[in-house]
Amino acid sequence: MYTKVFLATAFTSKSPKEVDVLKDCLFCIDGEGLIERIVHPEHADYEKVLDEYIHTDVFQKIEAGSYLLPGFVDLHVHASQWAQAGTALDIPLHDWLSTYTFPSEAKFADLDYAKTVYEDVVSTLLANGTTTALYFATVHKDASVLLADICAKRGQRGLVGKVVMDLVQECPDYYRDADTQTALQDTEEFILQVKEIAKTTKQGVYPVVTPRFIPTCTEEVLAGLGALAAKYDTHIQSHCSESDWAHQHVQQRFGKNDAQALNDFGLLQDKSVMAHCNFLSDEDAKLFAETGSAIAHCPVSNAYFANSVIPVARFAEMGVDIGLGSDLSGGFSPSLYDNSRQAVMSSRMLEDGVNPSVPADERGVNDSRITIAEAFHMVTAGGGASLSLPIGRLEEGYAWDVQRVDTTIPSSRLPIFDPNEPLLDVLQKIMYLARPENIREVWVQGERVHSRN
Ligand code: GUN
Ligand code: FE
Repeated sequence: MYTKVFLATAFTSKSPKEVDVLKDCLFCIDGEGLIERIVHPEHADYEKVLDEYIHTDVFQKIEAGSYLLPGFVDLHVHASQWAQAGTALDIPLHDWLSTYTFPSEAKFADLDYAKTVYEDVVSTLLANGTTTALYFATVHKDASVLLADICAKRGQRGLVGKVVMDLVQECPDYYRDADTQTALQDTEEFILQVKEIAKTTKQGVYPVVTPRFIPTCTEEVLAGLGALAAKYDTHIQSHCSESDWAHQHVQQRFGKNDAQALNDFGLLQDKSVMAHCNFLSDEDAKLFAETGSAIAHCPVSNAYFANSVIPVARFAEMGVDIGLGSDLSGGFSPSLYDNSRQAVMSSRMLEDGVNPSVPADERGVNDSRITIAEAFHMVTAGGGASLSLPIGRLEEGYAWDVQRVDTTIPSSRLPIFDPNEPLLDVLQKIMYLARPENIREVWVQGERVHSRN
C-alpha cells in the first residue's frame, strides 16, 4: 500500500548537464515518505496502479500547467541574518561583520526574538521551494536548539549549527563564546539536544559542527570541533577562502590555504560543506575531492563580498560535490531561484578570454561558464550529494521532497503559450522566471508543509 500516489509531469537532474523529464508518471510514496516506485506511462503496470488508486483519497493528479521539481537544497544560510537581509551590502566583509552582523546576531540571546525571526525564515524558505537548509544559527546554544526545534515542527529538513567563535582578538566581548572550553562543551550539549529533537521528526533534523571561520577560532577549538564531529559523526560547515582578507589571514597565521588548514584540524570529511571557496587552488580542490568535502557556491554573496566567480564547472569536473547557498544575508535573497540565475550570470562574466584584464590565477575565472541545467543540478542533486543524504532527485529510494510550480497563475503566469512547447524549455522558463507565487505546494519527506491558494 502506498501512502500517496501523484500523477504528474516532473523534472529531475540526471547528471550535472542532463535533465530527465518524467512525463505523466505515477509517483508512489511509502509510509516513510520515500519514493517507492515511479511508474512510466509505457509500463505494463501503469493502468493497474492508476485504477487501484485513482478513486482513493491518497491520489493527487497534478493539473496541466503545474510541474513538480525536487525541493531545493540551500547549502549555506545564516538563519539569524534574515533579520538584516538587504542591508549594508556595500561595505567590506570585515566591516560588515563587526558593524552590522555581530550586533544583529547578538540579539539572539533573547529567545523570544530568536523565535520570531527563526519561525519566519523557515516559513520563507519553504515558500521559496527550499526543503532542506544547512543553517548557521548564532553562538547561543539555546537559540540554536530552538532553530532545530522550529525546523522539526515546521517539517523542514534543517541541518543546524551553533556557531563557534572564541578567538578573543577577532570577536567582540559582547558576542563570542565565553572561552574555548565553553565553546566545546556547548557544542557537545547542542549536538546531543538536537539528536533528541531529531527522534521526534519524520524528515530528520541534524546538528552541525560549525566553526564560523578560521579567523574567529583558536587552534584548540578547531581541533576540538574536528574531534567532536568525528565522535558524533556529524556534518561540518564553515566559511572557506571567501574574501581577500580572510584568505590572507589564514595564510599569515598558518602559511597555507584554508582548505589545508581545515583538513589539518579534521574538518574536511565526507559530510563537510564549506561556503564560498573563492580562493580555492586546484590543489585545494583536489583535497576536497579526496576527502569528499563539498562546496556551497554562493553566487549572489560572492558578487558583493568577494567580487568573485568560482570555476564551478572545473571543480565539478575534478570530482568535487557542489551545491548552491543563498548565504543570507551576505546574499540578500532567500530564493535559490535567484541564486541559480546569478550562478549562471556570474559564470558568464569572467569567462576565460572574455576579460583579459583580470588575471585568471587570481580570481579563478577559467572554465566558469555553466548552463541553467547545471544550476538546477547544483540546487537539487548536487546539494543532496553534498550532504550525503537521499534527497534532491526524483528517483526510487529518495525522499519525496518536492515543489509544485504552477505556471498559470494570473498576473504571475510564466510565458508558456504553446501547449506543445518542449518540456526542457518549460523547465528553463521555470528556473528563470518562477516566483514564490508560483510555488503552490511543497512537500518534505512525503508531508505537505506549505501551500498557497
Ligand atoms: N565569514 C565569517 N562570517 C561570515 C558571515 O556571516 N557571512 C559571510 N558571507 N562570510 C562570513
Ligand atoms: Fe556565510
